[in-house]
Amino acid sequence: MLKINNLHASVEDKGILKGINLEVKAGEVHAIMGPNGSGKSTLASVIAGKEEYEVKQGEILLDEENIDELAAEERAHKGIFLSFQYPVEIPGVSVTNFMKTAINETRKAKGLGDMPAKDMLKLIREKSEMLEIDRKFLSRSLNEGFSGGEKKRNEIFQMAMLEPKLAILDETDSGLDIDALRIVANGVNKLKSKDNAVIVITHYQRLLDYIVPDFVHVLYNGKIVKSGTKELAHELEEKGYDWIKEEVNV
Ligand SMILES: Nc1ncnc2c1ncn2[C@@H]1O[C@H](COP(=O)(O)OP(=O)(O)O)[C@@H](O)[C@H]1O
Ligand SMILES: [Mg+2]
Repeated sequence: MLKINNLHASVEDKGILKGINLEVKAGEVHAIMGPNGSGKSTLASVIAGKEEYEVKQGEILLDEENIDELAAEERAHKGIFLSFQYPVEIPGVSVTNFMKTAINETRKAKGLGDMPAKDMLKLIREKSEMLEIDRKFLSRSLNEGFSGGEKKRNEIFQMAMLEPKLAILDETDSGLDIDALRIVANGVNKLKSKDNAVIVITHYQRLLDYIVPDFVHVLYNGKIVKSGTKELAHELEEKGYDWIKEEVNV
């Protein structure tokens, strides 16, 4: 589904990613871990196509198609979802109405008309029940006065509604408490299927107690220096990132 070859990327002319190779297949959950400043959020942003980041070398393929030239919006329409993509507060626009607009925009990009109201309601009901989101929450103004947990709930709801092919959740600096961790983890676990893939970016091993990744990668100084299974996350928790430094001699 996603294939990244020798990716080098810069922000403000500073080289951040220094040769990333990564393959994510449908049905897989990958965790990307690494110390602060190693380039995790940069990698997420580059995949999603954020403008501030410049690809200097290498390529990103989605279903074998090179997406380097596509704008963030077009990538979103192709099914790439990045958490915090819609962090805006919009007073007077409810969580539900915002989602309706987002879904219809995606449909429009594919040459489809608006989703019939009946189908939309059904989809909203289905997804909110699955994620145990109550109606009151759905009618609240988008992001206005949301707590950390509510922001997470909203994000997971967006992900559930948009049914992305590839979801990237960047959980580094969101100060996740246990509730928020559970919301994210439940969402990912419920939404994963054989047809989609998830990349979870986290600084902490804790989240991976709830989401069981198929693969864990350690990003260090702009490179993936080690890959493994969930045991690698435990090893990191135990030994810390300095261990990686010695291990891989960087
Ligand atoms: N928009 C930006 N402008 C300037 N520097 C940035 C920007 N985004 C990231 N960086 C720099 O890139 C490096 C990697 O950052 P980041 O990808 O956020 O790391 P991580 O998510 O692993 O903590 C840091 O040195 C950071 O200061
Ligand atoms: Mg980060």
